[in-house]
Amino acid sequence: MPLNDPGTAATFPTGFLWGTATAAYQIEGAATEDGRTASIWDTFSHTPGKVSGGDTGDVACDHYHRYGEDVGLMSDLGIQAYRFSVSWPRVRPSGSGPVNPAGLDFYSRLVDSLLGRGITPVATLYHWDLPQELEDTNGWANRDTAYRFAEYAGLVADRLADRVQVWTTLNEPWCSAFLGYGSGVHAPGRTEPVTALTAAHHLLLAHGLAVRELRSRVASAQVSITLNLSAVRAASESAADRDAARRVDALANRIFLGPIFGAGYPADLGNDTAGLTDWSFVREGDEQVIASPIDVLGVNYYTPTLVAALDSHTMSDGHRTSSVASAWPGCEETVHFLSQPGPYTEMGWSVDAVGLHELLTRLHRDYPQVPLMITENGAAYADFPDDTGAVHDPERVAYLRDHLTAVSRAIEEGVDVRGYFVWSLLDNFEWAYGYAKRFGITYVDFSTQQRIFKDSAHWYRSVLTRNSVPAEDHVVTAHSIVSSTAAGRLASRSVE
Ligand code: GCO
Repeated sequence: MPLNDPGTAATFPTGFLWGTATAAYQIEGAATEDGRTASIWDTFSHTPGKVSGGDTGDVACDHYHRYGEDVGLMSDLGIQAYRFSVSWPRVRPSGSGPVNPAGLDFYSRLVDSLLGRGITPVATLYHWDLPQELEDTNGWANRDTAYRFAEYAGLVADRLADRVQVWTTLNEPWCSAFLGYGSGVHAPGRTEPVTALTAAHHLLLAHGLAVRELRSRVASAQVSITLNLSAVRAASESAADRDAARRVDALANRIFLGPIFGAGYPADLGNDTAGLTDWSFVREGDEQVIASPIDVLGVNYYTPTLVAALDSHTMSDGHRTSSVASAWPGCEETVHFLSQPGPYTEMGWSVDAVGLHELLTRLHRDYPQVPLMITENGAAYADFPDDTGAVHDPERVAYLRDHLTAVSRAIEEGVDVRGYFVWSLLDNFEWAYGYAKRFGITYVDFSTQQRIFKDSAHWYRSVLTRNSVPAEDHVVTAHSIVSSTAAGRLASRSVE
């Protein structure tokens, strides 16, 4: 049955967890308050030309001061779980020095506020805001950073583990490594292909070490990592196009899934990158640490990736060659990222719920032992209040409905998906795009900090109340196109 069939009511198992997600630097503001020091994102956003409009996270949604109101919003919506991230430079400002009790107090108050409203806290320890002082000693290219992260994980757990059961070590290490150190469109903005691979390994090592820290403190902890896995499609069945898809699958997906699930780094990845590095940054015993068992795998999904072999034809087609910093070390001469059919979100990402179904069934096939959680899914659209103050966002409602239907179908087919977190509770600082892209189900007026539920927030409340997407909620997907230049979400994350 097609995913968009209006007659299909998507249902979810009893106990399915409905949540929303945010991240510290994107919403908190209070960048210099109560002992917080700079992260790489403070430095990056304050560097001219790095973020659209010169936007920074200095104030963002002012959530640091308004967290009570924001927890109230979630309570009004009936949200069951809240995925937030902890800011490392707030909790341990220099990255390696003394703990900052005021920083920990903030998260402790937030957790109490959530629990007081019956909302389950889901804490992510790293959503890209590395303390600048650690970047000054080579950041994720420095193996020591992994050990500093494990210490920080322990500090946070010491304070919150009596009330927080569900933990995520890292959010999207692919972005930290390959956008931060490869293409440079994210902080710290370095463009060093080998460093990107090294950073990926040190992030994974940090994850494994942190899993052990968490387990040693909270025997009952539910520990996870969140990956932005990609449904990679080849443009044709040709051997060359399929090989391009294999390469991208190795760099986007299996580089993380292999070591996390005990199979080590994929051999083909080693071959593809042999001209760049011998991988000697992987030391004996590292892969055992990285394979420390997790309880659930977090999956972030927005859009699939379509690739073809890069040949003389595609190169003459205007494709940018390796002179441009790449997020895909070793693929610069071999892979062409293609535009995909619309409709598109405001990010220029194609709306494609089938890709989420593909990804979930593939994960279940390849790693049947681990339950999945959709830790992010959502869409940016140009939403603004109308004359009555209402914010109508039919495209987002349609996006969420189609993707939830895809999740429901995967569950019916036997995939163990435990919950779903909409990205995002609030419009917020969308990294290199600044405040120009609105992902929230709640509109934020950044000049007044007023919050207004969009239609999608009301719709989401009705879905989680019934534990199903009712058939009568059929909404036609609007073909609002902002860009046809999208070359897959992973490839397109730069300010255009
Ligand atoms: C990510 C991050 C979020 C983004 C969201 C939209 O997945 O990149 O977790 O911080 O804001 O994904 O790009």
